[in-house]
Amino acid sequence: MYKIAIIYASRYGATKEIAEKMEENAQAADVDVSLVDVKNTFKLDLTAFDGVVVGGGIQIGKIPSSLRKFLKKKRAVLNLFKNNFGVFLVCGTAKDPAGVETAKEKYLTPLLTKYDLKPGTTAVFGGVFDLRLNSRFGKLKSGLIRKMLAEEGPKKYDLNGMNDFRDWATINRWFEAYLSNFTGFIRKQSPDPDEIKGASKN
Ligand SMILES: Cc1cc2nc3c(=O)[nH]c(=O)nc-3n(C[C@H](O)[C@H](O)[C@H](O)COP(=O)(O)O)c2cc1C
Repeated sequence: MYKIAIIYASRYGATKEIAEKMEENAQAADVDVSLVDVKNTFKLDLTAFDGVVVGGGIQIGKIPSSLRKFLKKKRAVLNLFKNNFGVFLVCGTAKDPAGVETAKEKYLTPLLTKYDLKPGTTAVFGGVFDLRLNSRFGKLKSGLIRKMLAEEGPKKYDLNGMNDFRDWATINRWFEAYLSNFTGFIRKQSPDPDEIKGASKN
């Protein structure tokens, strides 16, 4: 059974929900999966996994600093996973196909270059603009986003509601492809318990 870690950093929850969906899909595919907030990766042994997926949400052009630190510290081991290393970003810019290309240029490529990351697969997904009264963005940030979106033209967004640009079919397809491209077991294989028992008898 393959064993993978899905490590995410999410300020407002959109990336977390995507990571949770991937966890669900991995379980349905009989993959042993650990879903981990990057803040809890201090003692995580990446060599215990066959694959790692890392995801982060963008704010003012950046993923959370916790994820930046993780990528900087772990890049060598992450790159060892090759095909089995996936990276995805979540942002407002990627709300439509043209935006996905822009977001790749603006956020993904510079991130991979900066941390010298060589994932086998990458994706940028549309995120969420939650402009409801009790949004996790808070009043100030909601106000700023509302103003920015209003400039894009009338009736494009619900300026007092939920604007969810996550395309679940695309997200599921990407993750399915990631799993289907798996290249063998990478984790250090622990000895078979039966072999150990047999060895002690002789
Ligand atoms: C204050 C703020 C700044 C943002 N800045 C950007 C940005 O620079 N580029 C972008 O594409 N999306 C931006 N977004 C949209 C977020 O990427 C989007 O809400 C995403 O779903 C956040 O992911 P998270 O919920 O996992 O943190 C911003 C959102 C907020 C609230």
